[in-house]
Amino acid sequence: MRSRFSSLREDRFVFLDAPGGSQVPDEVGDAIARTLREASANIGANYETSKRVEGILATAREDGARFLGCSSDDVVFGTNMTWLDFALSRTASRDWKEGDRILVSRLDHDGGVAPWVELAADRGFEVEWVNVTEDLRLDYDDLANRLDERVRVVACVASSNAVGTIIDVARVSELAHEVGALCWVDAVQYAAHEPVDVEALGCDVFITSAYKFCGPHIGLAYGRHDLLESWRPYKARPAASEPVGRRFEVGTAPYELLAGFSATIAYLESIGGMEAIAAYEHELGQRFLDGLPDAATVYGLQTMDGRVATFLLNLEGVDAVGAAKRLADEGFGVWAHDNWFSLGLREKLPYPDSAIRVGLIHYNTPDEIDRFNAALARL
Ligand SMILES: Cc1ncc(COP(=O)(O)O)c(C=O)c1O
Repeated sequence: MRSRFSSLREDRFVFLDAPGGSQVPDEVGDAIARTLREASANIGANYETSKRVEGILATAREDGARFLGCSSDDVVFGTNMTWLDFALSRTASRDWKEGDRILVSRLDHDGGVAPWVELAADRGFEVEWVNVTEDLRLDYDDLANRLDERVRVVACVASSNAVGTIIDVARVSELAHEVGALCWVDAVQYAAHEPVDVEALGCDVFITSAYKFCGPHIGLAYGRHDLLESWRPYKARPAASEPVGRRFEVGTAPYELLAGFSATIAYLESIGGMEAIAAYEHELGQRFLDGLPDAATVYGLQTMDGRVATFLLNLEGVDAVGAAKRLADEGFGVWAHDNWFSLGLREKLPYPDSAIRVGLIHYNTPDEIDRFNAALARL
């Protein structure tokens, strides 16, 4: 499949930065360009280009539904995860009361925390962190202890963009529902690495972003059908209200990106789908962990159990920023950062300044992993 990506054909630069954004197969770019050439129109007209746009919209919705495991009615497209989270959190909370509580997890990316913090500032809600354990898993007892009938939502990542830990979303949904709260999931990292079935997870809202799984820059959400039906949308009144997900897609959709999204799903399915991808990445991740030099400290889980292949690490006695620069110069795409947008987690991480993130995805190869581990050992 690497031959389907112009950026991977040269086989020189090793991209280990998928958690920041993945490489994109040429067919996705081709679908975007083809749409601009052959379907530049708006919906609602009675001629060919307009019909093509309507086809693109309907197909993208079907593809999104298959990817998420839901009905195509309940898919909402938007600019990106952060934008969808800001928009949907405001929509969901229109009738909430001052003093209502929102729980977020210390594993969360700020794209899933800031929307609640800003909402709380406007409306007098309270936002609290749910803690992590020593090995950087979610502390489910702490979550259970914080729940009461004033909690409106439990928001969490499905897997951390910094340390890779997977959260048991089905368990969080169950706990949240016991007190009538919503389970609101940021799956930007998770959906790039694991098969998704929102109905089995039992969550109420689930948001992800296609540029993390070889697609264009477009976000995608699932909302539980009766919940979407119950919300009053912020929308231009003449704009479509059916299917229900459309109510929350404000303004004209990015038709060309939706065509690119469909090409992305077709690409993922053509290489075996997310189950095959997850199994392969699991092996790759274990190979990486097994081959690390002794001087490497990986924060959080030490095996592939309960995590995706996203790793945060430091090398003893080596400055992370300088190391990342040298690795980049040698042809390895990684970088160093202080908090990786995970502000709640940062308070629990022991390093003084920054750490290197290494993120594996299905287009990485065992040979790339071995070469990278050898480069770490040299450092
Ligand atoms: C876990 C997680 N949540 C949210 C985001 C923000 O996503 P977006 O860029 O689609 O707004 C990211 C981006 O890296 C992320 O990794």
